Amino acid sequence: MIRFVEADNMAEVASSILSVSMTREAISPARIEKQILLDPNFDAGGSILAYEDDQPIGYALSVLRKVPTEGEINDPEKGYLWLLGVIPSARMKGVGTELLNRVEGYVREAGRKVMLASCYSPGYFQPGIDVEAYSGGLEFLKNRGYAEVYRPLAMEASLWDHEVPEWVDQAKLKLEQNGVRFSRNGRELISDLLRFSKKEFGVDWARFVRESLLRQIDGDQKTGLSIAVENGEVIGFGHFDSERFGPIGIAASERGRCLGQILMWDILAQQRERGFRSSWFLWSDDKTAHKLYAHAGFKIVRRFALLKKELS
Ligand SMILES: CC(C)(COP(=O)(O)OP(=O)(O)OC[C@H]1O[C@@H](n2cnc3c(N)ncnc32)[C@H](O)[C@@H]1OP(=O)(O)O)[C@@H](O)C(=O)NCCC(=O)NCCS
Repeated sequence: MIRFVEADNMAEVASSILSVSMTREAISPARIEKQILLDPNFDAGGSILAYEDDQPIGYALSVLRKVPTEGEINDPEKGYLWLLGVIPSARMKGVGTELLNRVEGYVREAGRKVMLASCYSPGYFQPGIDVEAYSGGLEFLKNRGYAEVYRPLAMEASLWDHEVPEWVDQAKLKLEQNGVRFSRNGRELISDLLRFSKKEFGVDWARFVRESLLRQIDGDQKTGLSIAVENGEVIGFGHFDSERFGPIGIAASERGRCLGQILMWDILAQQRERGFRSSWFLWSDDKTAHKLYAHAGFKIVRRFALLKKELS
């Protein structure tokens, strides 16, 4: 007997399923509590557990943004397929298909037109379907109407031998001589940073800035910023949270001036100073990886497929 139930307070059970199905993500009960159950958009209607007799065998989660991020709902048409896993011994019996149908139904009934797998911010565990780790899952979704839209990549660099190259120091000096100021002190630029990040990169980046500054004010040394300022205006910034690097962005009008390289190397230096020995991020594209990150020793560690399905 297989049954499907809507579930909240499912941290332990969902974690036990995901630890053997989405094996690369290490989704502990505590991460589920923090990233899912405490997410203001979480709704048990999109959270479905499958049981065979009394044994939990599958879990699927979809989510809709209902609570604005930084004052905006920037994706009113979308729902997100966030998690989907069936334990190996219960596969090929239609459980995954039924779980998917149910979470799609939840999104459709709310009037949303598109389902994305996955990349719902802020809470996502991975930006899409890891094409190596979940190649079967990728096929499964493609067979059910999902089409690939993009392939972001994740990279990692060792910080053991981190040393800022001389040409970066020189480029920085030259920019400083021409009036650009570099700062690690976001607290002197709070409103400017929030305005800049929202205008240039959208609400999700402003959220990174806000959360980092809130933590810094409380004395948290594990997060920080690196900022470029010209004529009193923020023209770029980078961010880190422990070993996690990014986001980093330069104003569209100021690109090509080495600002990105300078901020990247400074973020890596800050991570190293705080005791971290590697730096990683989950999302970039091939062009930026080649142009920016490869210079600092970042290597590709994961590749994701972002999928989309129009819900009729
Ligand atoms: C992807 C995943 C959720 C599918 O779960 P599942 O329960 O095996 O899914 P289903 O049984 O509904 O469908 C799987 C296949 O079995 C087939 N199948 C379904 N019922 C069957 C039955 N009674 N007898 C034989 N085959 C059957 C389906 O036709 C399907 O094949 P298709 O994709 O070629 O159509 C599961 O493989 C998994 O947990 N993978 C790892 C995690 C993952 O990749 N998650 C998705 C990305 S985040």
